Amino acid sequence: MVSEMVSVRNICCVGAGYVGGPTAAVIAYKCHHIKVTICDLNQARIDAWNSDKLPIYEPGLEEVVFDRRGKNLFFSTDIDTAINEADLIFVSVNTPTKKAGLGAGKAADLAYIEKATRRIAEVAKSSKIVVEKSTVPCRTAESMRTILEANSTEKVRFDILSNPEFLAEGTAINDLFHPDRVLIGALQTPEGIAAQRALAEVYENWVPADRVITTNLWSSELSKLAANALLAQRISSINALSAVCEATGADVDEVAYAVGRDSRIGPKFLKASVGFGGSCFQKDILNLVYLSQSLNLPEVAEYWNQVYLLNEYQKKRFVKKIISTLFNTITHKRIAVLGFAFKKDTGDTRESAAITLIKDFIQENAHVAVYDPKVEHEQMYMDLSDNLPDTRKNVEEHLTICADAYEAAKDADAVIIVTEWDEFKTLDYQRIYDNMHKPAFLFDGRLMLNAEELRKIGFKVHTIGKNELAGTA
Ligand code: UDX
Ligand code: ADP
Repeated sequence: MVSEMVSVRNICCVGAGYVGGPTAAVIAYKCHHIKVTICDLNQARIDAWNSDKLPIYEPGLEEVVFDRRGKNLFFSTDIDTAINEADLIFVSVNTPTKKAGLGAGKAADLAYIEKATRRIAEVAKSSKIVVEKSTVPCRTAESMRTILEANSTEKVRFDILSNPEFLAEGTAINDLFHPDRVLIGALQTPEGIAAQRALAEVYENWVPADRVITTNLWSSELSKLAANALLAQRISSINALSAVCEATGADVDEVAYAVGRDSRIGPKFLKASVGFGGSCFQKDILNLVYLSQSLNLPEVAEYWNQVYLLNEYQKKRFVKKIISTLFNTITHKRIAVLGFAFKKDTGDTRESAAITLIKDFIQENAHVAVYDPKVEHEQMYMDLSDNLPDTRKNVEEHLTICADAYEAAKDADAVIIVTEWDEFKTLDYQRIYDNMHKPAFLFDGRLMLNAEELRKIGFKVHTIGKNELAGTA
């Protein structure tokens, strides 16, 4: 019986992506007495995890993986063996937004979760704690429980936990080393509580016990959606104010600083931008909208949907500003886009604002020259063409992927800062200016450059949330 299990010795993580990979690797790093096997259906991904070039870029990840790989950390496509050896299984497979069918565009596609859960049910020969780790809508644990319980026997029982991941990409290793909290939800039965304790003990190898929070299953699942919805809401709030700033002459950075000094509001997550991206915010908000609609709470659904809509508006508003500033046309003009990842220090492009912007520029028949220090070229083509052959041809005709920012900006009519990579702060902007068409426009979608210095060089600068005429009237 799982309720008698005192400590976890063997962990299997199903899904070797952005969540499963770093999370399970850190557990191996912090708990040498636990064998951790990360498995995936994707052979190429597993090969990459076993090579010198890991499949995802994350500061500090290499050190963790190279230190424990082959000792108590293993990567494998032999999922069945890993499941069977494990006392505890993390399910961290992908949960994209549904593209078709009921809830298309909003609800999460749980097909991968279901497939992984069924596999566990089929092959497990001993009792397991199964931990829902992927970002999932409320009640997923219930579905997993139904599938697993239908396959439970006297000898094999399954206990389901929800243990949502709060790490942010780019700082994942630090977030895992020093989490604000670890949240573990379980059914409040003796077995559920015992399983909850077993997982809490794993984390308590390095996380102070008062940071490990235990709740019921539903609170845990909803907390994940709520945390991301509240964070995204802050960004949409400051982005909404950025439009007011541009119209009035207020400066959005000054406003964010002034309001953030109120300790009830706090300074974090108030940086205006071209719009939030990433695999979580949009997906989780839309999950919350769908959940609210399903629960017949239309006002609640509408409230959260507005956070998403404002983000779409912010991206479109930026595109409109660029086109109108470039004399109402960008046809045949060269537009240099600096950054493609959804934020700095990651090669991840999911829901990146760059995708929306560049698609719109191509639609306007501009020529786009893009540079990003981490994103793979093929990834850009896939994102911009949605994997459609005809669209890809058009993208290839309109897109040049450059080796650095100088090459991208050469002969450009405008430079657009889309991702806040640190290296963009220290570029030789005089050199960039000298090689551009005049007038040379620069649009700072991340509020990261010194606009005054750039204006002295000769650039025409537009920064989100700032009015270039403010102070001159
Ligand atoms: C987010 C949550 O932070 C994390 O807790 C959760 O587990 C997963 O989703 P992530 O998507 O990796 O993490 O990145 P995050 O740092 O939250 O940034 C998301 C987006 O918001 C990025 O595009 C970022 O550039 C943007 N952002 C963030 C802003 O525009 N302004 C801000 O002030 C903060
Ligand atoms: P996330 O950001 O949530 O980690 P990713 O897409 O980066 O999402 O990673 C999810 C991983 O899960 C992918 O590598 C995918 O191949 C893997 N995966 C999906 N379904 C299964 C399954 N049934 N068994 C094993 N791995 C799976």
